[in-house]
Parts: sequence; C-alpha cells; structure tokens
Amino acid sequence: MADRKRLIPGFSRILHGGDYNPDQWLAHPEVIDEDFRLMHLAGCNAFSVGIFAWTSYEPEEGRYEFGWLDRIMDRMAEEGQKVILATPSGAKPAWMSLRYPQIRRVDRRGLREPHTGRHNHCWSSPTYRQKVRAINLQLAARYHAHPALGMWHISNEYSGECFCDLCLHAWQRWLEQKYGTVDALNAAWWSAFWSHTFTSFEEVDPRDGSIDALKVDYLRFNTSQVLDFLRWEIAALREHSPDTPCTTNLMGLFPWLDYSKLVEAVDVIADDQYPGFVPDDPDVFRTAIRVSFKDDLHRCLKPDRPWMLMESCPDAPQWKHPVRLKRPGVHQAEMLQALGHGAEGTGYFQWRKGRGGCEKLHGAVVDHVGHEHTRVFQTVAKLGAHYQRLTPILGSVVESQVAILYDWEVRWAFEATDGVRAHPDTYESVAFDHYQALVHHGVSVDVLSPERDLSPYRLVVAPQLWMLKPGVAARLRKFVEAGGILVGTYYTGIVDESNRCFTGGWPGEGLMEVFGIWNEETEWLPDETTRRVVTEPTAKRLALEGELVAAQVCAIAHLRGAQALATYGEDFFAGSPALTEHRWGSGTAYYQAAWLGADFFQRFYGALVRQLGIPTALSAPLPAGVLVQRRTKGERQLLFFQNYSPSDHEITLPAGKYQDLLGQVPVNGTLRLPAWASTVLSSA
Ligand code: GLA
Ligand code: ZN
Repeated sequence: MADRKRLIPGFSRILHGGDYNPDQWLAHPEVIDEDFRLMHLAGCNAFSVGIFAWTSYEPEEGRYEFGWLDRIMDRMAEEGQKVILATPSGAKPAWMSLRYPQIRRVDRRGLREPHTGRHNHCWSSPTYRQKVRAINLQLAARYHAHPALGMWHISNEYSGECFCDLCLHAWQRWLEQKYGTVDALNAAWWSAFWSHTFTSFEEVDPRDGSIDALKVDYLRFNTSQVLDFLRWEIAALREHSPDTPCTTNLMGLFPWLDYSKLVEAVDVIADDQYPGFVPDDPDVFRTAIRVSFKDDLHRCLKPDRPWMLMESCPDAPQWKHPVRLKRPGVHQAEMLQALGHGAEGTGYFQWRKGRGGCEKLHGAVVDHVGHEHTRVFQTVAKLGAHYQRLTPILGSVVESQVAILYDWEVRWAFEATDGVRAHPDTYESVAFDHYQALVHHGVSVDVLSPERDLSPYRLVVAPQLWMLKPGVAARLRKFVEAGGILVGTYYTGIVDESNRCFTGGWPGEGLMEVFGIWNEETEWLPDETTRRVVTEPTAKRLALEGELVAAQVCAIAHLRGAQALATYGEDFFAGSPALTEHRWGSGTAYYQAAWLGADFFQRFYGALVRQLGIPTALSAPLPAGVLVQRRTKGERQLLFFQNYSPSDHEITLPAGKYQDLLGQVPVNGTLRLPAWASTVLSSA
C-alpha cells in the first residue's frame, strides 16, 4: 500500500498543528515570533490559517491586504511547516453585511438576521457567491505555488438554513427538477392528507412540519444547497490551483447535512471533535465508543485516503458546562484513537488563546500566560515527539469484514415520523449498541451507507433500517443470497424514499422473504419497562441460553420460514419470536424483533465473529473501558490501545513479538495499560 495517498502529497509526516490565527495578533509581531518558536517545541508541522480572516484579507471592499499572510506563509515554508489555507466564507465582514443585506440569512419566521456571529450567510445570494469567488480567486492566484501550501480548507463547519426568497425559489426549482410535475410530488408526498394537494411548486412551503416526506426532502435540498456552495468555492480555487487537495471540516455525526453527499466535492475528510472525556462520568466509555463509531464512519467516507482530525481541544472547551479539565493521559488517548481509525493527522482548536471574543477561555496549546511551561503545552509537545516515532503508521490501512449501515436520509425519515422511538438520538445510539459489541471483540467495523457496495463484507448489520432507498433491498437480498450474514432489527423496511409506508407487510420490498418473518406490530416501551424473553435450545450456538430481557422496543413478528431462536415469555407477546434466524440462498438473515441489551449484543456478535472466523485484533474480548484498533501495512500489524477507564488493565497480546512504538520497548505476551494510558504496538 505504499502508494496510498498522503493527506498532503509528498509530506510524509503525521500532521500535527491546528487552527492558527495570526490575523488576531498583527499588532504584536513579537507574539508571532514566539509562536514559531513554540510550534517547533510542540512538534507541530501543519496549521490552518485564515479561517476567520476576511477582514484582514479585505479590510474594505476590493482592497486586499496579503502582506501579513505572505510573511506567515514564507515563514512556515522556511520552518518546513505546511499551511492548510482557509477560504474565509465562514464569517463575513460587517461592511459587507450592511452594504448587501441580501447576503444575510432569513430565519424560519421570515425575518432577515442582523450581522452578528458567524456561519450565517445565505446559500443562494449571487452577491455573496461573487464576493466569495473574488476572495478565493485572490488566495488561489497568490498562493497556489507557495511551498507552504499543503491543502485548502474550505470555509468552516458549514451548517444552517436560509428562508429568503432566493432560497425559497431554489427549493421550488429543486422540487421541480426532482419530481417533474406537481402531480408526481403530490403522489410521492401523500398530499391529500390534510388537503395538502398542491397545484404548483410555488405553493410548497419548506416549513410545513406536517408532511413527513417534505421534512426529508427539505434536508436533502439543504444538503444540495450546501454542496453547491462548496463546489462553487472549490471551483474558484481550482482555476489557479488545480491539484492541491481540498477539504472542509465536518462535525462528526452532525444530523442536518448528509455528509456522505457533501464530501463528493472534497479530496480529504476532516473532522472536528470535542467529546469531553470526563473522568468521573460513568458513561465515559460510551463517549469513547461514540467517537470510534464516528471515526469509522468518516474513514469510510473516503476509504482510499487517510482522513484527519482537523480540530480537537488540548484541554477543555469553554462551551462545555461545567468546564472540566482534560485529565492526564486523555489527550493522547483521544488522538491515538483517531490515528487507530485511519487518521494521519490531528489538529487543535486552537493554537493560541485569543485575548477577547467569546472563545477566550477555550482550551488551546498556548495559554494566556504565553510560555511553554504549562501542563497542556507539555502534553501537546510530548505527543508531537511521539508522532515522530509513529511515522511507520503512514500508509497503513484498516481492513474490515464487517459493516454497520448508517445513513443520514434513513435517520431523517425515522426522526420525521411521529410514533416511533426515534428521540433523542435513538437512531445513532442503537447503532452504537451493535457497534460497541463488535469492537468489544476487537473487530474492525466499517460504517457506511446502505447504498455502498456490500460485497466485500462477511457480516452486515443494519440497525433500524427504517427507510429503504431504491435498490437497497435488492442489494441486501443479493448480499445474503451470495453467502453474507445480515442482521436486521425492528423498525426495518417500513418506508420508501418518500417516507411512505410499504404496504403488504414489513420489512417491505421483499425483505420479509429474506428474513423469513412478518413484523406485524411494534411497541415502544417506557424506559423502565422490560419484557421477558426465553431462548430456544438452538440459540446455544449463538452463546445464548436461559432468559433474555427485552426493553425499549418490542415487535410482534410471525415466522414465515425463519426459525425462532428466542421468544417472548410474558404478556400477550408470549410465544412470538424475539430473535430469528433464516437461511436464505447461501447466507443467513437474523432478525431482532426487540432490543435485547448489551449482554445479548456481546454474546450474539461474539458467536457470529467466531463462527465466521472474522479477524480480531486480540484473541480475547477487551476489558470494559479499553479500546483497540488495528491497522495493517503488508505483514505488519499496528495495534492502537486506549484505556478510557480509571482501572489498570493487563492485556493478553496475540502470539508474536511486538514493539511499543512510544515506549520503544519490546512487549511480548502481555501489555500493561494503566488507567487512561494509551500506546501503539507494532509487530516485528
Ligand atoms: C468549532 C469551530 C471553531 C471553534 C470551536 C470551539 O469546531 O470550527 O472555530 O469555534 O468549535 O470548540
Ligand atoms: Zn437565502
């Protein structure tokens, strides 16, 4: 895999740096001098510059000032550092907002917003687009061949919606393009309900919360607006800078933009994360699972190239209340976790704390005190030194035979529907339950959309696949026919891509045949309510015996060819299957009619992984609180460990000789991992 692309072509180092805002310090050149000294001490090599620098780039309309940036870029080049140079569209200058009110958003009530804050420009305004194009052209023309330029950083954390006339018009044209005729829209949206039948696209108000299909279409539209804006920004850069990779920083599992679509426009996946690992939080390990899941999803958005953590906090962000300091060890664990999941760079928000503004107390590498003798700086510098030793990871890959399906549109349709256990964040948290059990067994998991190719996988888990987009059911069917193992759950195959319920029985679109069951009814239980489930003797081959406990959601399903491995043991549910198995073609489909809890998930997936011979990082399950990721480079195995728990652990390693890349010591047999510790082992 030596030809696997680097994040920055030709730059064979793990990126380490972050958001650097010298534009806030132009009146203090001595501080900027000090920054360069400190960057060197911290082992940093790549910085995002200019993210919110529009007023420094263009202090008044048409007058550009790039002298300061020239000096920063030149100096970065002299020091062997790379710049991820930002387009400044995330925060527009006040002079622009006042002169061109059209660039400001209109809110849901139809009111034009004032010029405040950031991340609040209209997606459609031709004026804003021209202004962005002009500044992007300037940047690209000036710096495209600069030796410090490593990547383009497009805007910042795109988000939000605008309801101005231009955006409403764009919405209506989007509908027209999608549906062709208003009759087709009416049919897809089931518009006769509450007399919503439309006679023209102009009548369709995107704020109507009573039409489930509209809610999903509006989010699709908004993603297409943002994607169009992103493409517009990149097109201007590309006129002068055709080859430098482009990225835009994402926000994890941000629910309101379909990142799987948005990233079509960029070359590199970059993410921002602020998990806030709090030592005395009983759910701290769940936080770590959530981060891992998100990392695997991001890795799979562009599997042919490493991704990077663009922003993280070396200490505590000021906006997480209460503000808890990052305890010793946690920062390194969080960064190694990202690398373990395929990242090849991590950055900070931010390099140096600004003296004013609403983020002046946000954790940063350089604190207000100004020198390097701080706990946080020393932590960062130590990590910077470790990154030198970790360069062997560059070009290694995460290989997985297991996929979990996760999809923004499915989530939107699920959450747009009244009557299902969809809030808060149930779509993702149930996916985490399945994921957590798999990673407990040391399995690498790909997290991806059901529209992706499933043929590379042995096991596909589809938690709550509420919506079946065109072709998805056929793909799952083919996957099982060809020998794949599919795990489905209640709330699967309920609606089509317009959020219309399938008729004729669930799971729809022929998946009843694949699972060999008909899911007749589904109950959403109150939080404390449970229902007994009794396993059949045949469930022993899945490490299940005796009783299980169902909670959260219980469906009543009927066997239509499948075999029950467990049935409900009480209430009028008694006797109906809670877990089924169905051989179909050369594969098997399992259906979980109820949420059966963490212990069940661990046993069930542990048994499947053993039966299928799916590779695991270790030969025994992980202790609670510990995570491991495995990257491979030819024959070489790289194991990334993090202990997100207050207990020390001893981990039995697979046979073979290992080197601890950070401690630079050989480790054989057992790895001692103290509380909150992390490290990387490489096979010899
Ligand atoms: C986001 C933004 C940054 C900063 C941080 C603070 O990730 O991109 O500009 O506001 O949050 O945590
Ligand atoms: Zn608008």
